[in-house]
Amino acid sequence: MAPAFSPQPIQPLDTLVRPGVKRVNYRRRRQRMAGSRQPSSVYLCSPMTRGQIRSTIARRKFILPIPLREDPMNPVLDVIQKRRSIRSYLTKSVTKETLLALIDAANLAPSGMNLQPWRFVVVEDAGFRRKLLKTAIPNSKKFIETFIKESNPKRYEQMMRRYEELDDPVYYGAPAMIFVIGSGPHAPESCPMACENIMLAAHSLGIGSCWVKFGSMITDNPEVVSALELKEGEIIYGPILLGYPKDIPNPPPKKAPVIKWI
Ligand SMILES: Cc1cc2nc3c(=O)[nH]c(=O)nc-3n(C[C@H](O)[C@H](O)[C@H](O)COP(=O)(O)O)c2cc1C
Repeated sequence: MAPAFSPQPIQPLDTLVRPGVKRVNYRRRRQRMAGSRQPSSVYLCSPMTRGQIRSTIARRKFILPIPLREDPMNPVLDVIQKRRSIRSYLTKSVTKETLLALIDAANLAPSGMNLQPWRFVVVEDAGFRRKLLKTAIPNSKKFIETFIKESNPKRYEQMMRRYEELDDPVYYGAPAMIFVIGSGPHAPESCPMACENIMLAAHSLGIGSCWVKFGSMITDNPEVVSALELKEGEIIYGPILLGYPKDIPNPPPKKAPVIKWI
């Protein structure tokens, strides 16, 4: 399979604006730098349209292009920048070889004391996915009602609309998913690293992914628990949905990093 990180042109932004902060003309700055010496870093941005940028400014305090401070052709940085949470999948299945390659990538993640406190359950079976969905829908709705409705009514409306509009508002019809199941003191830090490796490796192979916490809200179904062989003390990270993307969303706004140099 052709690797997905064939470099795509990244749309440079000429001028980045933060409200209340001096406008910076990056094109002029780059030209100045190029005139004096080779720039040590290149400021390029994610491909947001000017309309998106303006609405982003209106909505939030910061302008949020994702800056790449190093070589934009670097394949790792390119994959990190372009990975998106995918919520719409083609029915085309992901091959077993590819799923194993993703699990190998997960297994190479760093872990506390190199304990690798994880195991993986791959779910592809349509019948089992339906059972998961039947359990996850009421549980995730309850979670949204309890934790989001009051604190963020707008987000609540948005999320509930998904439940009305989609047949599968939890797993988005993904043809495969990997439950990363961990236990032990280092699992909470280590297992998400394995998850991230899966998502980045998937993107590099042209496969979409999404961590769906709502998809892990299935532990009250004994049949599902038994199939996953979930034992006392084990926690589900993910599941990570996998499949070929039907739609790739625009990059969501990201806050500028808060940095302190010492
Ligand atoms: C711990 C965690 C839980 C998440 N749970 C869900 C989920 O239940 N449903 C969903 O649609 N997306 C879920 N996401 C995806 C986030 O919404 C997504 O990462 C975020 O909106 C940023 O978008 P991006 O991944 O494209 O950068 C989850 C992500 C993480 C890291």
